Amino acid sequence: MHILLLGSGGREHTLAWKLAQSDKCEQLHIAPGNAGTLLCGHNIAIEVDDFENIRHFVLSNKIDMVVVGPELPLVKGIQDYFLQDKDLSRIPLIGPEKAGALLEGSKAFAKEFMKRHRIPAAAFETFDGDSLSKGIAYINSVNGPYVLKADGLAAGKGVIICQTAEEAQKELRAMISNSKFGEAGRRVVIEEFLDGDEFSVFILTDGISYKILPTAKDYKRIGEGDTGLNTGGMGAISPVPFVDDELMTRVEKEIIIPTMRGLKKEKITYKGFLYFGLMVVNDDPYMIEYNVRLGDPETQVVLPRIKNDLVDLFIHVANETLGTQEIIYDRRAAATIVLTSEGYPEEYTKGKTIGGLKDVHDSIVFHAGTKIDHGNNRVTTGGRVIAITSYGQDLNMALELCIKNAGKIKYDGKYFRKDIGYDVVAQPEIV
Ligand code: AMP
Ligand code: GLY
Repeated sequence: MHILLLGSGGREHTLAWKLAQSDKCEQLHIAPGNAGTLLCGHNIAIEVDDFENIRHFVLSNKIDMVVVGPELPLVKGIQDYFLQDKDLSRIPLIGPEKAGALLEGSKAFAKEFMKRHRIPAAAFETFDGDSLSKGIAYINSVNGPYVLKADGLAAGKGVIICQTAEEAQKELRAMISNSKFGEAGRRVVIEEFLDGDEFSVFILTDGISYKILPTAKDYKRIGEGDTGLNTGGMGAISPVPFVDDELMTRVEKEIIIPTMRGLKKEKITYKGFLYFGLMVVNDDPYMIEYNVRLGDPETQVVLPRIKNDLVDLFIHVANETLGTQEIIYDRRAAATIVLTSEGYPEEYTKGKTIGGLKDVHDSIVFHAGTKIDHGNNRVTTGGRVIAITSYGQDLNMALELCIKNAGKIKYDGKYFRKDIGYDVVAQPEIV
């Protein structure tokens, strides 16, 4: 098969690495890709939401399948674009249609969906320009902390947690009246604050049945001990030690099954990955957010723990025969540590030459913000530069290898957290 993968981050290098392992993958193209995806296939200079050029490339290169990494093209309706085009409609695209992508594209839609289908989640109200004063009054009527969420996509920055009512009211005004998060944030969901342990569950679905993938936990804050600014994710582990069979059974019954039923009831065809961002509060699972894709950097630990041929699984998704498949887990633990650029997650340095890649042993190097420059050097281009993934008989061993190998990569301004998994690795392993 000729496969086109859309995206350019660590998640996409991991997807490319996994797709390229399949005997069924004759040609792999990545648009636009990075210096790592080049090792798995051909990079092409097309942006993920440039539908016209994607169409042209797919038809002129006889692409048999398109795999979508990030949310942007899904929220912009790439699945619908393919289905509505007489030449593209026969080519399977792995990712939900626009109506399904709204689960990530609109926080208000996602919260209403959870409510309609009785999925346990924080209580909420939605406000916009016409109801700003009601929003101000609402904040006065409930206890803090207050969780404010911009409705639309905000590149992972649209959630603000405020301790006091005054702070929350100020932020609400900044979001609605001053477009702090652009148009996307002029509608705001205010949510009850939940206090508990977060983790992520991923499924792959063909719209009829679904398969649960390995659990993961990511570490979003820039600083050790989960301090400082939020990032896209500084590291991840899989499995999550506190997620036992009993909890997973409840997650499936109380969250995954109602979500799948809800999608069917609302006539939303969903083929692709669905990410459940969850929190355990007093032993009960709650839904925090949906994403309509795999997580980054969770993918860097989830895919290495799946032994199945990924192309095969995607063919079953396209043919709606996923129900006949079993996911085969690698029983080893996996950890990943993200190496970032100086300044990240605020303004960061770029163009730094990366060395030491060949000195990494017993770990997998997944590239994120990297490219090859005119002098044929690998250089940094993004805030998150590289993720180092390792296997281990337990998480401690995997993390130790990650730290050792992260130390071998060299570029100016390199930073990484050495405490990924700090809150859970002391607990007994449940694989
Ligand atoms: P989201 O983009 O909805 O995942 O929110 C980003 C992060 O904000 C989550 O990973 C949580 O750490 C935090 N968060 C979101 N909603 C809540 C909530 N209701 N209570 C506490 N923390 C939350
Ligand atoms: N690591 C969080 C995300 O991918 O949304």
